[in-house]
Amino acid sequence: MQIRNLKLVNFRNYERLNLNFNEHLNLIIGQNGMGKTNLIEAIYVLALSKSFRTNVDTILIKENENSLKIGGEIFENSSNKYELVLNNEGKKVKINGTNQKRLSDYISKINVILFNPDDLRIIKDTPSIRRKMLNIEISQLDNSYLKYLQDYNKVVKQRNSYLKTMNINGNASTDYLDILTNKLIDIGLFLFNKRKEFIEKINESINNLFFKITKLDDLKIKYISDFNNMTKEELLKNYQKGLERDLMFGKTHLGIHHDDIVFELNEQNLKEYGSEGQQKNAIIALKLSEINIFYEKKNTYPILILDDLFSELDVEKVKNILNLLNSEIQTFITTTDVKNIGKVKLEDFTIFKVKEAQIEEVSYEK
Ligand SMILES: Nc1ncnc2c1ncn2[C@@H]1O[C@H](COP(=O)(O)OP(=O)(O)OP(=O)(O)O)[C@@H](O)[C@H]1O
Ligand SMILES: [Mg+2]
Repeated sequence: MQIRNLKLVNFRNYERLNLNFNEHLNLIIGQNGMGKTNLIEAIYVLALSKSFRTNVDTILIKENENSLKIGGEIFENSSNKYELVLNNEGKKVKINGTNQKRLSDYISKINVILFNPDDLRIIKDTPSIRRKMLNIEISQLDNSYLKYLQDYNKVVKQRNSYLKTMNINGNASTDYLDILTNKLIDIGLFLFNKRKEFIEKINESINNLFFKITKLDDLKIKYISDFNNMTKEELLKNYQKGLERDLMFGKTHLGIHHDDIVFELNEQNLKEYGSEGQQKNAIIALKLSEINIFYEKKNTYPILILDDLFSELDVEKVKNILNLLNSEIQTFITTTDVKNIGKVKLEDFTIFKVKEAQIEEVSYEK
């Protein structure tokens, strides 16, 4: 899958932009604050209808304007036109001119794998960041996932508020709570299995990729979940055991809404044990290992975006990463320094120079 053309109107610092991309490698070069991340963010927003760096959609609209438009021509066997419009009435997405109502279907269509320096939070930050990562990636792979996840979150809310009702009204019947608990387990098991399958697939290749970048092994991801190795009957028992605590706090303590993953290097937690560079390379290995999962499932490679790939990495690691890139995968790399690119032999690429929201194609000079 490739994005062949991108058109922007009032997106971030871009007033108007119309760019044709290279089918293989696109190098986005420019100084700090010029609009490199904004450009790749537009591709990401078109694919997922949401930004990776803000939950406030209106920030994406150019200052002093009131609407934005992103248009993209996506090629996969044939060419299709995607469009996202955001204004004070909300957000609309279209494929070939037709409005798309179901976001869960839409976001599984353009597949993007993004690495951004902020992704280090996947290792450093709280479990919710890691769950968010799992949710975003699996939603792109499987259009039923997001729907189940929304249902799950709704049931958790209903269960929590019913627990509070029961707490106030000691005589409230447990029948309704049992229905909710049953639902929670059924949907939870579905999501648990999707997450487990995804993590198992990642583990098939992450160590190999990490080794090729760092010459270190052994990296793996451990999945931690209340649902791990549990049958429905065992889970029902556990919810029963936890009922007193749930009632006391008016909160559902057990469930996949507390799932977590741990990156382990040689059985040590990378969060406490790994260097900055090792953590960054682990995330890059994670993203690269997703490529094959997408290919297996979709029969087409996702679009790979590596934002600010080179910062904080030594020359050797940069070389190793660039050598792992497959020319069949359309790739975008942003960097402030064109010299980084000279470190390996690359074929068939286009350099885009970004300067104050203007972009021009330039030829490469060493
Ligand atoms: N809604 C907006 N309207 C206008 N300008 C914006 C908007 N949002 C962000 N900007 C501007 O975009 C610029 C940041 O662009 P971007 O993050 O793409 O930089 P960059 O080239 O990736 O820089 P770096 O190398 O530091 O990562 C900032 O100057 C910021 O003021
Ligand atoms: Mg940037």
